This record gives sequence, structure tokens and C-alpha cells, in this order.
Amino acid sequence: ITNYGGTITAVRVPDRHKKIEDVALGFDSIEGYTAKSNTGYFGALIGRYANRLANGTFKLDGHEYHVPANEPPNMLHGGNRGFDKRIWQAKDVSKPGSPSLQLHYLSADGEEGFPGTLQATVTYTLNDKNELRIDYSATTDKDTVLNLTNHSYFNLSGPGSGSILDDKIMLAADHYTPVNKTLIPTGEIAPVAGTPFDFRTSMVIGGRIGASNEQLKFANGYDQNFVLNHKPGAMALAAKVEDPKSGRVMEIFTDQPGIQFYTGNFLNGTVHGVGGVYKFRSALALETQHFPDSPNHPNFPSAELKPGEKFHSSTIYRFSTE
Ligand code: GLA
Repeated sequence: ITNYGGTITAVRVPDRHKKIEDVALGFDSIEGYTAKSNTGYFGALIGRYANRLANGTFKLDGHEYHVPANEPPNMLHGGNRGFDKRIWQAKDVSKPGSPSLQLHYLSADGEEGFPGTLQATVTYTLNDKNELRIDYSATTDKDTVLNLTNHSYFNLSGPGSGSILDDKIMLAADHYTPVNKTLIPTGEIAPVAGTPFDFRTSMVIGGRIGASNEQLKFANGYDQNFVLNHKPGAMALAAKVEDPKSGRVMEIFTDQPGIQFYTGNFLNGTVHGVGGVYKFRSALALETQHFPDSPNHPNFPSAELKPGEKFHSSTIYRFSTE
């Protein structure tokens, strides 16, 4: 982990033959992360608002706020300089048997157009069950909106080892939030049943990715938010990825209401990271989150945070083999 962007730079886990490999995409030097060509948010913490805000606009308490439309016409992942491009204050908060790093960032009132002074704390913890746990917390001094996530890309065979299309994935979601052609949710909470978005039982990722389906066309693959079945606020299994090649398995548990399943459709071989060149669909991201563009959709779970409240959320990545 680096304090630049609170970024996870490597996740080293064994395969079925106990061979250790880094399964997270990233760079082996800080220059890789700060380079202009790095537009992929590799491993970074994302804020203040992860995913998209339509037209860089939202209303709160009757006031219209404008944030940078850094992916025209929308805001993506916090604007021009989101939490992924900030320096976090790091503190070792390890306990015996569980190494732990606490990161803190103070986001000034009005930063990237968002209201309120936001105190954000993110704690990464490892344990001897092969789990990486992320605890997010935040407070504000004015009403604001908040969506925090981590944008790690995984290839369970190791970065640069090929496509993720042969992996199997399970997503604990009966519904998803379809998007328009700029990847902004239409507001509909649509059933996955009978669509290529039905991963309620484990399915090969590439099985239906080429299907003639408007949603898959808009995103050039999977890049949608899935509505998790569990009661938001309660930790539950959200996703399970199995790599038949290495035998590695990754399970994700979260208390967040949604998870973005993204199949690396913007990777195009121009970024060179650890393991080689990052090609089209050579990694996947599973971003636990509030739904994209929630402030503009009253029917989505609220992403508001008020003074006096304490935001808290956790996500666990559990690694094993089969
Ligand atoms: C998220 C988005 C994608 C893409 C990546 C970063 O996963 O949903 O559309 O912007 O971040 O490249």
C-alpha cells in the first residue's frame, strides 16, 4: 500500500500449488501511479464520489452543486483530482496477528466542488484467514454526498497473464441498475433474470459478454452496478471469483448496497504495469459502493452524510484456493 491515493500496490496470494503471485494490477514505482497515462485508478481509494455523477451536477438541500465533468459529460471517480491523487497520512495500527495500516485524509470544504470538510479514514487490515479488510469511515461539517470504494483490478492468475474471460463469477444480486450510453443509471432497478447479468449462480465471465444486448454494448462489456440482495448495513457475501487456471478464489463481503462489476473494457494495452502490458479485459474490478449517481435518483439508497453522523462501511476480500 502506498500513501499516494491510499493505493493497494500488490496483493500476494498462493495458488493451488502454494505458488505466491501478485494478483492485483499496479506499478512498481510511484512514477507509474502519477503518470498522466495512468487513467485506470489502479488499486486506489476513490472519493469523494466513486463512479459517476450525471453532468457533474447534483442537488442537495435545494442547492445545485457542480463538480468537474472529467469524463464528459459526467464526473467520474471524484473529479479531476479525487482521493486517488491525494496524499494520505499513514499510521501503523497493527495488532498481534493482524498487520493494519490506517490512512487519513482531510478533504477541504469545496474540494472538487463538494460541500463540507470531510475527514476520511480508511484502514487496511490483514489476518491469518487470508483476508484483506477495508474499513471506511468519514465525518463532515456540512451536508454532503459520499461514495467511497477501492479500485483494485484483479487477475487471479497474475497481472499480464491473459484475459479474465475464463474465470467464473457469482454476484449475489437479483437486480442491477441499467445505464445509458454515457454509463449513467437510468434509474431503473432491473431484474437480472433472463439477462447476461444473471450471475446468481456462478458463470463463466466470457460466456455471454458478446451477447447482443444494449447494456453490454454501451459498456463494451460489463461495467454496471449490481444491487446486492443483503440488507444494506449487514456484512454479506457479494461476489465470488474463481480462476480455473491457478485455482485461486476471491470472495468479497461487504455491507454496501451495490457492487460495480467492471471487466477492464477500457484497458487497451497502452499501460505497462507489473506483469507487462495491460490488455483489453485482462483484469476485473469489483467496486463495493453506493449506486452510481445516487444523488440524482431519489429511489436509490441515499449517499448523503450529515454533520454529527459517522459514515462507516467495510469490505473484505478473502482469498483461498480450490
Ligand atoms: C470504473 C468505471 C469504469 C471505468 C473504470 C476506470 O470501474 O465504472 O467505467 O471508468 O472505473 O477506468
